[in-house]
Amino acid sequence: MGKKLYIETQGCQMNEYDSARLADLLQEREQLERTDDPREADILLLNTCSIREKAQEKVFSELGRWRQLKEQRPHLIIGVGGCVASQEGEDLLKRAPFVDLIFGPQTLHRVPDMMQQRRQARLPVVDVSFPTIEKFDHLPEPRVESGKAFVSIMEGCSKYCSFCVVPYTRGEEVSRPFDDVIAEVAHLLAQGVVEITLLGQNVNGYRGREHDGGTVSFASLLEHLATLPGLLRLRYTTSHPLEFSDELIECYRHLPQLVSHVHLPVQSGSDRILAAMKRNHDRADYLRRIARLRAIRPDLHLSSDFIVGFPGESEEDFQATLDLIRVADMDHSYSFIYSARPGTPAADLVDDTPLTVKKERLQRLKDLISASTLDKTRAMVGSRQKILVESPSTRYPGHWVGSTFNQRIVHFAATETDLAGRLIEVEISAALTINALRGERCDLHS
Ligand code: SAH
Ligand code: F3S
Repeated sequence: MGKKLYIETQGCQMNEYDSARLADLLQEREQLERTDDPREADILLLNTCSIREKAQEKVFSELGRWRQLKEQRPHLIIGVGGCVASQEGEDLLKRAPFVDLIFGPQTLHRVPDMMQQRRQARLPVVDVSFPTIEKFDHLPEPRVESGKAFVSIMEGCSKYCSFCVVPYTRGEEVSRPFDDVIAEVAHLLAQGVVEITLLGQNVNGYRGREHDGGTVSFASLLEHLATLPGLLRLRYTTSHPLEFSDELIECYRHLPQLVSHVHLPVQSGSDRILAAMKRNHDRADYLRRIARLRAIRPDLHLSSDFIVGFPGESEEDFQATLDLIRVADMDHSYSFIYSARPGTPAADLVDDTPLTVKKERLQRLKDLISASTLDKTRAMVGSRQKILVESPSTRYPGHWVGSTFNQRIVHFAATETDLAGRLIEVEISAALTINALRGERCDLHS
């Protein structure tokens, strides 16, 4: 029987993408078959996240469980990748000496070779460097399982927001060559994908090299992608307000594939805090760009990331954040309490807001956003929506689920068995939960 691989992924969509590609690579090179059960695996890989302290702690609790598995089955190979691996490097072995492989976000394509080395040398193998060669050149073409797919267009981040570890763990911004991105998307479309989400820490900072030596901006990349036949929906995450250019905003006028949904992290609504975070823009800049976008797409749904309780955040600063959520009419957010990350400039700031106050602020922010999400979900009742069909509904027998442009789930009755990956039209008949709807089918577009 073939050997089995278990991969656990923590953190962002970039990690999800990396894990999927790594699994494909290991299947191709080592004939490893993926399993959902760590107890039957021969290779256990943990793709880690260090964005907040809590994420980092989860790494060691999971490794504790894996250590017990290894005690029972000593041939097990345990690998740790991602941002915690990148940050800790060899030091990780001090806390977890039973780990065999340590690889970073930029060296995962070397994992098969590292496994070979481990087998020969019987010593842990560590490689968390940032090689200048593209890891993507060494990864197989992605496999497709549904109508949706993710494509990484850049790595790392050079923004150095004062609170954030990403530039240190994933390295400086590097864009994938333009032709590679186009080829990967074309490959996915040829396999029936209709919705593409472009991934990167700052996708709008994309500067892709072209084969003739020129560079392509993010807006221009979107324009090129929109010419590819079969692409019905185009999304991207994450973009940065600073580079949300007029050229990019104009794309919303002439590219119908771009969904009217933008995730644009702002972190705070207070100019004082934005400056301390080194975001390099103020509240007015953010609102100006949103207003321009809404002038073109009045139906725009906006989501954002917030950090609550940044060092020195006063009640007044926090009020400014709540106010920004109202003024920008936000639909959704990923919000967290500030977590000091070792090695970042903000970690040296005096942080004297009690945790109870931070928790209470986070709750107020979440309550405000949830009320808005629910309002917008309810407002969709009676409208016609195109939805991308995903899978049979597990909740309602005889139903399928699909997703709207603004990430709402729609349950609808259908007798077919092969609807996955189709874009169909429904009339929304009821709101089921804060982000789920019921729809009645009106049309079929395949
Ligand atoms: N590239 C994105 C952010 C990537 S990190 C941007 O443009 O901002 C994802 C999110 O994690 C951030 O938006 C931020 O809200 C959160 N985050 C990052 N560092 C954090 C920290 N030290 N404490 C709490 N949240 C943090
Ligand atoms: Fe982090 Fe700021 Fe980059 S939040 S990922 S340093 S844009």
